[in-house]
Amino acid sequence: MKTIEFPPLQQAHKKHHPLTIALHWGTVLCIVIAVGSILFRDALGDKFWRILLLEVHRQCGLLIMLAVAARLYVRQRHGMANHMKGMPPLLQWAAKAAHWMLYAALVALPLLGWAATNAHNVGVRLFGLIPLPWITEVDSEWADTLTDYHSLGAWILLGMVVMHVGAALFHHFIRRDAVLWAMLPDKTAKLPELAPSALRGRREIAK
Ligand code: HEM
Ligand code: HEM
Repeated sequence: MKTIEFPPLQQAHKKHHPLTIALHWGTVLCIVIAVGSILFRDALGDKFWRILLLEVHRQCGLLIMLAVAARLYVRQRHGMANHMKGMPPLLQWAAKAAHWMLYAALVALPLLGWAATNAHNVGVRLFGLIPLPWITEVDSEWADTLTDYHSLGAWILLGMVVMHVGAALFHHFIRRDAVLWAMLPDKTAKLPELAPSALRGRREIAK
């Protein structure tokens, strides 16, 4: 049996579009800052810092929502590098469903936070400057309900992120394919030593 090698794997496997990579890791950073600022705020008594950290939280949350719109646009224009060849159909379906659920959470959560803010009779300004429309009525009970939904949503997002990161590590270390590598910004990052299943479709076996 003779094995014909096709172009070097580093070339055969494509990274995601640089904007997709930048927006993905930019979103991760914004989530870390948004969650960090709101948790840190709880530990502080000083009014000035509490107001400042809540504003940091709101601005990061709004940026996340803008980043989702930009990601979907880049995805539509340039597509995503596809490393699903050779993956069982159920796994492919699960990956797609998980990504769309993450997008949905990244839009729903900021909207709930925005609505909760308005219901507390506080306006929301993008970058602290551009006034955004009011999306709900002012009512303190409704505001508390929206805040409860917002914090429940944050827990759900956290659960999804844990599974998502687990899946990325599973791909890299167990399945040994190029899925995580394609999302890493470092151009010099080396491809993992790929498992045979990840090579399917990239290498032809000639008899
Ligand atoms: C993906 C983006 C966001 C995440 C992950 C997130 C997460 C959180 C978390 C974990 C809390 C604490 C909940 C608790 O104490 O039980 C919180 C509270 C809150 N968030 Fe967000 N949030 C996001 C976006 C936003 C946005 C865009 C706004 C407003 C424009 C906002 C407004 C608020 C408000 C008003 C609170 C309640 C603060 C308080 O009363 O102590 N959030 N958020
Ligand atoms: C706050 C945390 C995160 C969120 C909300 C998130 C969200 C997403 C979303 C929506 C996608 C779909 C494609 C896109 O639009 O970019 C994606 C792809 C991806 N993410 Fe994340 N991500 C997070 C953290 C991470 C971390 C920490 C890792 C690595 C350990 C990671 C690895 C990946 C990989 C490898 C892909 C590409 C999957 C594929 O090609 O099918 N993500 N992420």
